Amino acid sequence: MKIFITGATGLVGSHIAYYLLTKGYAVRALRRSASSLKTTQAVFACYDNGTTLFNQIEWVDGDTTDYYSIEENLEGIDMVYHAAALISYWPREFAQMEKINVEGTANIVNACLYKGIKKLVFVSSAAALGHDVHTRVYDEKTPWKQSTFVTHYGISKYNAEREVWRGVEEGLDAVIVNPVVVLGPGDWTKGSSEIITSIDKGLKFYSNRITGFVDARDVAQATIQLMDSGIKNERFVLCAENVVWKDIFAQIANALGKKGPSIKAPEGPLVNVVILLGKIKSAITGKRPFLTADSVKNAQVDQEFSSAKIKKAIGYEFIPVADSINHAVKAYKAT
Ligand SMILES: NC(=O)c1ccc[n+]([C@@H]2O[C@H](COP(=O)([O-])OP(=O)(O)OC[C@H]3O[C@@H](n4cnc5c(N)ncnc54)[C@H](OP(=O)(O)O)[C@@H]3O)[C@@H](O)[C@H]2O)c1
Repeated sequence: MKIFITGATGLVGSHIAYYLLTKGYAVRALRRSASSLKTTQAVFACYDNGTTLFNQIEWVDGDTTDYYSIEENLEGIDMVYHAAALISYWPREFAQMEKINVEGTANIVNACLYKGIKKLVFVSSAAALGHDVHTRVYDEKTPWKQSTFVTHYGISKYNAEREVWRGVEEGLDAVIVNPVVVLGPGDWTKGSSEIITSIDKGLKFYSNRITGFVDARDVAQATIQLMDSGIKNERFVLCAENVVWKDIFAQIANALGKKGPSIKAPEGPLVNVVILLGKIKSAITGKRPFLTADSVKNAQVDQEFSSAKIKKAIGYEFIPVADSINHAVKAYKAT
């Protein structure tokens, strides 16, 4: 069985690639001309057999926004994992997210249909479940609602899912997974892995809001089990535990041997002033602001997630969040 995977230079995709190789699959992984293989190497380095397995990856060049590069790279492929995306909470990057997350997914879906791929697994996000002030616990059946707390990233992932469902209507077998915040060794300067760096560097503020967390190893293993099962045309929320941000920060700080954030992040009008200052600074420097209207949204809502469906469907048991934090911090300290 030969597998094609997108996003294998990132946090989630590198874990999927690692676990596929441990299962003996042949893995062809997409990389862009500017991609770095550092994160993948760092993830594989967490395991004794990492270097041997890393060397077995067949790297191919392409871009999900370039349809023909995908079609070409699907030659001889049986199954596809699509984990590539742009995760950004900078509203200014919405057009780019629409291009990469929505159009990129449409290209993957169309190429899979054209090449007769047996099954596609699409790594979506809990952000694609939307937000509704009346919903506390989100699951696969939560209807999409677009409150003011829905981020541009969430909209792009929701629209990407619609491309997958369109593919299913056209005859593709597919599974969608919706992970919550993913914990694990990745690029420590961006995405969810950056949480650890921020705390190490002395992040001062915490939020008392609750959200879901899941280990990158679980996202990978659950996703592979779903691919290898007879299940098709379903979506699955991947969440180990729902935890208050303050507790997550405290656990990370403890594992790092550092003092955790001690000031409750303000909510309301004061935050808008901080966002505005960030916008002005970013207009001058051209750099992504630290706090944006969208990143603040995530810290201002309580969202819990249920993984009852995957537990029932394949009996999946998640790694406790405390173990995920220790694993990620150990890898962080080793860098
Ligand atoms: N991290 C989380 O907390 C989280 C939570 C829920 C869902 N997810 C989902 O999980 C998936 C992976 O996220 P991640 O955390 O692993 O992100 P990541 O570390 O930022 O990795 C993103 C990956 O996508 C690739 N990519 C981006 N644009 C591409 C394009 N146009 N063509 C080909 N490859 C492209 C990147 O390649 P380069 O190396 O070239 O940049 C990289 O391999 C995404 O679909 C995301 O929505 C993540």
